Amino acid sequence: MPRFACLLLLTVVLVMAAQGSSPRAASPQTPAVTFNKDVLPILQKNCQLCHRPGEVAPMSFLTYESTRPWAKAIKEATVSKKMPPWFADSRYGDFRNDPRLNEQEIKTLAAWADNGALEGDVKDKPAAVAWAEGWRIQPDVVISMPEAHKVPAKGSGEIESYLVPNPFKEDTWVNSIEIRPGSPSVVHHAMLQVPEETPGPSFSWGGVSGATCLPSGTASFMESPVAISQPNQGGQPTVKPPKNFAILEAVYVPGSPVTDFQFDGSAKMIRGGGNLRIEVHYTPNGKAVSDQTRIGFSLAKTAPTRRFVTLAPKSLANVRRKIPAGSENYETRGELEFGQDAQLVWLMPHMHLRGKDMTFNLVFPNGNSETVLRADFNFNWQLGYEFDAPIRVRKGTRMVVVAHHDNSINNRFNPDPTRDVSWGNQTSEEMVLPWFGVIVDKNADPERILAVRQGGCSVAATVLPNIPSVAPRLPIPVPSLPKGK
Ligand code: HEC
Repeated sequence: MPRFACLLLLTVVLVMAAQGSSPRAASPQTPAVTFNKDVLPILQKNCQLCHRPGEVAPMSFLTYESTRPWAKAIKEATVSKKMPPWFADSRYGDFRNDPRLNEQEIKTLAAWADNGALEGDVKDKPAAVAWAEGWRIQPDVVISMPEAHKVPAKGSGEIESYLVPNPFKEDTWVNSIEIRPGSPSVVHHAMLQVPEETPGPSFSWGGVSGATCLPSGTASFMESPVAISQPNQGGQPTVKPPKNFAILEAVYVPGSPVTDFQFDGSAKMIRGGGNLRIEVHYTPNGKAVSDQTRIGFSLAKTAPTRRFVTLAPKSLANVRRKIPAGSENYETRGELEFGQDAQLVWLMPHMHLRGKDMTFNLVFPNGNSETVLRADFNFNWQLGYEFDAPIRVRKGTRMVVVAHHDNSINNRFNPDPTRDVSWGNQTSEEMVLPWFGVIVDKNADPERILAVRQGGCSVAATVLPNIPSVAPRLPIPVPSLPKGK
């Protein structure tokens, strides 16, 4: 690059830095876009989490050499918004883990691909990011399944459960937990739980069984204790059935990111002593492999003031009704009510191959309502959404969840559009599981966070407020443009 161009660039950068604005698009007058100066910083910030050796993406974007062959593909994937993966409707909610590029960044990547994908000057290159090898977090403590589990090439899948010694002797606050399958191709889900001293009725992710289905009308409103296990209190049962909620410490599903439990002074408390339970659901994928799933914990460095609790109602679906073959937009709705003040910080829709979308609406005690997330669902990318700022929910606030399944031929993931689909654990069955995270005062009684109304069971349409499934309830004056960063 000629010297005057460097000086000019320097001046431009300084002026822009002084104004706090971002660089302009490369135009014929501006210096060429290069990998070291313009592209690598974007890849570090938004792509390398997955695009590096040992991670989910098939190619690495750590170096110029490994990225250069993908220049055109990078342009296409980012212009089309296929990458980075993100499915939230940008009209609702602001999420701190939103990985999307802004228009300027997309233009920079396109200009790089269109102008010879140059490497540029080595002195423009930012320092490499110090990724912990084999992890997305920086784990302080790692546990693993006691032995590798052999998954056959064929079969309908199996759920394995392991008790492992708790690495924490005392109650311990953690900032994040990463579940890391050894062979992701056969792991349908994995989760970590603190086992209860007195197990509640067996928990099924599939749906509410007929026996626990609630009567209709207001009687269907039930205070449901949240089965957080507490240290053993003199042999007294600490879990009160019926149990409509599942609590867990961490969950892994395909494509899921790691949840950061730090919001407004919060962390997650892992009870000390005893065992931890690791559950892994294996689904054979045509090749015999073995898997040994590991779990890493990153410890809180300062004492938290609030506690992050991960919850899900058993299911919102009515197990007595199957999803009819061919139906394109099968709707399920359900409603939860907060039994104490809390702050909503995280949402994660979970369904199976026919899942289409899930919407979360909050109805506040004063009657106002707000859509806080509307996300398309993709089985291969089951994302969790972390709010930019915690949403304060007073006691009495209701969370109305509306989900849709597409059991038609238009759904390219649908293994069999000619079949009525029932509810259950298997990938070929369906689920509606709105996982969510709240933070509560460190000393609050977590057992009373929520009550539940299960839509499917309790003549939903008449009991629930009439919230449109797709259209926003409130006209929210934000255009449907993707949000800039
Ligand atoms: C959450 C993980 C993740 C992030 C973040 C991510 N990718 Fe990917 N990317 C993948 C995976 C997995 C694949 C391969 C499977 C697929 O195409 O879905 C992929 C595929 C691609 C492809 C190939 C697409 C094709 O059509 O073959 C390109 C190009 C790409 N990513 C670019 C990017 C860029 C650029 C970024 C950052 C702006 C990014 N990715 C961020 C996981 C990720």
